[in-house]
Amino acid sequence: MFKSIKMAPDDPILGLSEIYDADERKNKINLGIGVYIDKLKNTPVLTSVKQAEEWLLKHEISKNYLSIEGLHSFNTATQYLLFGTDDNSIISKKRMRTVQAPGGTGALRIAAEFIVKNTNSKRIWISSPTWINHRNIFLAAGLKVYTYPYYNSVTNSLNFNELYSSLKDVNPNDVVLFHCCCHNPTGIDPNAEQWDILSELSAKKQWLPLFDLAYQGFSRGLQEDLEGLYIFCKKNSELIVCNSYSKNFGLYNERIGACTVITNNNKDAEHALSQLRVIIRGNYSNPPAHGASVVSLILNNKTLRSTWETELKNMRESINHMRKLFADTLQTNDKNRDFSFIERQCGMFSFMGLNENQVIRLRNQFGIYLVGAGRINLSGLSDDNINYVSNSIIKTLHT
Ligand code: LMR
Repeated sequence: MFKSIKMAPDDPILGLSEIYDADERKNKINLGIGVYIDKLKNTPVLTSVKQAEEWLLKHEISKNYLSIEGLHSFNTATQYLLFGTDDNSIISKKRMRTVQAPGGTGALRIAAEFIVKNTNSKRIWISSPTWINHRNIFLAAGLKVYTYPYYNSVTNSLNFNELYSSLKDVNPNDVVLFHCCCHNPTGIDPNAEQWDILSELSAKKQWLPLFDLAYQGFSRGLQEDLEGLYIFCKKNSELIVCNSYSKNFGLYNERIGACTVITNNNKDAEHALSQLRVIIRGNYSNPPAHGASVVSLILNNKTLRSTWETELKNMRESINHMRKLFADTLQTNDKNRDFSFIERQCGMFSFMGLNENQVIRLRNQFGIYLVGAGRINLSGLSDDNINYVSNSIIKTLHT
């Protein structure tokens, strides 16, 4: 029965890390997978997380199952993190329900299954390019996947005109996926005016907007990074937000995220929750507790929260510092090209729009690992490798 099974291709991101680990060269540099790397070249456990874990170790009294939708205090804290400071009816009119999910990926998968099973939406539009796993997740849930243009490789900027004209043809009930902030892989987000135009089109065309929020806090700040979502909520009463705590809490291997469905009213929200529960029960029954307990403790405790917010700010500032240094170093070493676009990008990544040969050359000849068409994890750069990386990129660009 298993004889005819073919070998699947390696995952372009997680598979790349495996190739990197097996690479024996001493000077290899991993700028691939999107995890924060500190000055000591570690992906550290945040102090706020360690403190929450110490508290849990002392006070946790049971390993009993969580409910199907997860830890109640975590789900509520997520809702307040998303909408607690925005002045709208989502909280006051009880128009949303949140379920805990195994990471941002798990949240997207729950959302996609929820859409397929409970709505007339059968098609989803994702940006080109986008995070490589989006297509897998939506196809696996049974959605048909289409793309809209996003990146202009000549100007290294958002291709807003093409994006807008392409989305003008999207049918009512179709799902349109947006990266709430820190677009992965390009690091380019729409500005407020562009979000406003898109939200208007969405309301007029009656799409279902789905927001992937994997990097909250990595662009401008926890609230600032929700700008696009808030603009959409003003004109669109039904939408879905899938957020991840992998990056902003450094809880990568705890697989913790959430799926929040926003509806027109409390009754619709309650019905939606009941269907989300059916999907979860038939998949993994109920979620693991540890990541949710940690996030909930931190978000609900003043001292821990303030420690976490400072740690998040430090990660953001350190990446921004590296972004500037990277752009300056490239510019100093190659005056004939304009690298200023790097400073206009945001989040963990810089995106160079390289071709496949250039990415492979960087890996084979220089030991520098990038994802896809030249996505660079800026936190993997350091004072001691930035010159080497910049010069290698310049040499590669010239061929
Ligand atoms: C990434 O984009 O590198 C991360 O989100 C890791 C992943 O799961 O792909």
